[in-house]
Amino acid sequence: MSESLLPTLPPSGLLGADVQLASGVSNLGDEATLLFAERETEKVGGAPLPDAPVQEPLRPELEAQLAHVRGLLRDEFATVGEGEACLTCSFQAEDVLLLHLAMELRPGIPVLFLDTGYHFRETYDYRDRLTAEWHLHLTNLLPRLTVQEQESAFGLLYQTDPNKCCGLRKVEPLFEAVSKYRMWLTGLRREQARSRTALKEIDDFLLPGGVVVRKLSPFADWSTRDVWQLCAYFGIPLLPLYDAGYTSIGCEPCTTLPTDPNDPRSGRWAGKKVECGIHIQAGPAGGGDHATEST
Ligand code: ADX
Ligand code: SF4
Repeated sequence: MSESLLPTLPPSGLLGADVQLASGVSNLGDEATLLFAERETEKVGGAPLPDAPVQEPLRPELEAQLAHVRGLLRDEFATVGEGEACLTCSFQAEDVLLLHLAMELRPGIPVLFLDTGYHFRETYDYRDRLTAEWHLHLTNLLPRLTVQEQESAFGLLYQTDPNKCCGLRKVEPLFEAVSKYRMWLTGLRREQARSRTALKEIDDFLLPGGVVVRKLSPFADWSTRDVWQLCAYFGIPLLPLYDAGYTSIGCEPCTTLPTDPNDPRSGRWAGKKVECGIHIQAGPAGGGDHATEST
């Protein structure tokens, strides 16, 4: 992984009220990770820029959480062969952090990106940059219809019928791809949405057609702050859209800045829906129409 990249400052809105960002210094609580202090010193005082971020010790709780996730991944990977576990990646902070940890054990882990054709330019650029610098084993999952074909046939479904649009461009390609694996890693967290409060760290996820895949969400009980602190700790560069104030990032036509400062997902689908459908599993008999929320 590249060590030449300094992390981007997280927007203060993502970190919670106890976190202050001032003058380029990331003061992440008492155990402050003063990753950015030296950069600021350079601007005003002329001290040399560090070549790589300075790693300060993590607070003990976060260190324990990190150890737990590393242990979980180690134990779970021991149960499946190389190539049998995949990670779905939207290139948001949770996913790249999880990818970083998964790649410590499995550098060649298959990474699946739902390329809906509607992502922000910044997302595509960041995906390409990370893919090159981290040597990702990336698969871009494409819907059956191109954007042009879909718009010719149905018009702008993201305006008229976002459920159908997500069904065609996300749910269908993802479920088809994931069904080829035994294990599926996601960056889902309970805190992200009310629809995710029952999220399990490990779940047997039933796909349409009856295939069951072991779904791991190792950050299930993590906070946004935990994720951002560890990203900074590891010097992971983040999707630049966070700097513009986005707190949850999906397809461009369905993503705005958050409309409610207390709800990071309030900028998704303009409040018309809360889930795209890829985390909703089939009914108990396997013939259900993605009826049961696993999250
Ligand atoms: S979404 O369902 O509303 O889009 P969110 O953006 O919170 O979900 O991401 C939750 C998880 O869904 C991610 O950790 C990732 O596993 C998966 N995911 C979301 N978007 C994509 C994408 N474009 N490609 C691959 N996986 C994705
Ligand atoms: Fe379509 Fe919006 Fe769903 Fe993307 S998020 S697949 S543009 S409805």
